[in-house]
Amino acid sequence: MPAGNTHARYGAVSKSLHWLTALLILTIIPLGLIANDLAQDIRNPDIATTAAMTARTALLFSLHKTLGVTIFAVALVRILWALVQPKPAPLYPGRRLETLLAQTVHWLLYGSLLLVPLSGWVHHASTTGFAPIWWPFGQSLPFVPQNDRIAELSGALHRLLVQVLGAALALHVLGALKHHFIDRDTTFLRMWPGGAADSAPTSPAPRGTHHSAAPAIAALAVWGLALSVGYVAGTFPNPREHHAPDTALPMVQSEWQVTDGTIEITISQMGSPVVGRFEAWTAQISYSDTNTPGPVGAVETRIAVESLVLGSVTKQAVGADFLDAQQHPVAVFSAPIIRTETGLQAPGTLTLRGTTLPLTLPFTLKMSGDTAHMKARVVIDRMDFGIGTTTRDAATLGFDVDVSIHLTAQRQTGIE
Ligand code: HEM
Ligand code: HEM
Repeated sequence: MPAGNTHARYGAVSKSLHWLTALLILTIIPLGLIANDLAQDIRNPDIATTAAMTARTALLFSLHKTLGVTIFAVALVRILWALVQPKPAPLYPGRRLETLLAQTVHWLLYGSLLLVPLSGWVHHASTTGFAPIWWPFGQSLPFVPQNDRIAELSGALHRLLVQVLGAALALHVLGALKHHFIDRDTTFLRMWPGGAADSAPTSPAPRGTHHSAAPAIAALAVWGLALSVGYVAGTFPNPREHHAPDTALPMVQSEWQVTDGTIEITISQMGSPVVGRFEAWTAQISYSDTNTPGPVGAVETRIAVESLVLGSVTKQAVGADFLDAQQHPVAVFSAPIIRTETGLQAPGTLTLRGTTLPLTLPFTLKMSGDTAHMKARVVIDRMDFGIGTTTRDAATLGFDVDVSIHLTAQRQTGIE
């Protein structure tokens, strides 16, 4: 079988690339659908998430993504090959509408082979909390920051572009079947390995097969239409629709009033760090700025557990298996502040998910007048607090939770 195309039939390289792509596409679509279904179950607070479910979902997504980038690479080779090869001419150039439809679908398929994996890839690179691509080249993409908004948009785009691909593929396969079984012509056989049309003589470019821009324009119009319909149907989430859950905590009177601060946590999911933060918390702090070792104050921090933002796994993290915000809405750290020879520390207790355990928080303090800048870092073991005990595999979800606190507090005059 000759490697190159002629104007009458496809060569071995085009056929191999075509059927390899077909096999990959027909594998990756069900993989994506099944993995996405499992992910929905995990996000659903009414369904208990088991470690086996999480591991299966991660495995399917890793497989999906790895096949997806493979498709992208195969598509690049295929498109380059198609550009330098003669294109077998339509068998019925006289049937103008049918030819336009077939060629528009070919453009949609070629375009989808680039756009669908790219949108998935951007979604992957911008998401916190993900199943990795199985390759050694890293998980991020240049110019794509980890950002929830980009992740949502690219995820919606991926699902929309997949639908265009699905519709184009359905028309393509129906067309191939029609040619084979109804028209009984050689359209299918000239693409099939060893098909009868292979024996067709090499022919010069038939007359009337000039390249027209119409199919490409029609394909662009289809994508444009799909995006518009998706937009109108609300496929692309509006950031203003996101409202934080009601996590209001009662105001506290404090000798030192926090004016700015973050409580950040970092966990390791599938070997990659995922950073999150609590949006709602209060701190009641008393502190006298003396250099004498011994007790110098006290702190009580109350954290609204439901206010956690942890990328795409936020709902799962505050759900029953993990932090269980519904049963245990507030986490409390309460401690005296002690000045030691080496620095400041708060040796107290942390109550999380209904479990109270001792926790010592070493911290640094920079004073400038009546303003204090505090920094602290501590690592806790989620298993000690019964968090995610069904996910016992540290490779899936690490046991260590790195807590990092930065805050600025202002001394309040008039409160003793
Ligand atoms: C699985 C079922 C599939 C069947 C039965 C099938 C059949 C065919 C046939 C018969 C042709 C030749 C059409 C002609 O000569 O005018 C063709 C071409 C083509 N197919 Fe498929 N195909 C399938 C899957 C796919 C998939 C999954 C893709 C890509 C997403 C794809 C993309 C294309 C493209 C772009 C062409 C045009 C090739 C060119 O002219 O360079 N096909 N297909
Ligand atoms: C031609 C290649 C690809 C095809 C045909 C494809 C197809 C699909 C399908 C059918 C779904 C399920 C959509 C739904 O249930 O609504 C999906 C979801 C997904 N795909 Fe792909 N995919 C491809 C490439 C990729 C790549 C390269 C990545 C990442 C590197 C990726 C990441 C994802 C992710 C993360 C989801 C879940 C999206 C969500 O959260 O809603 N995909 N894909």
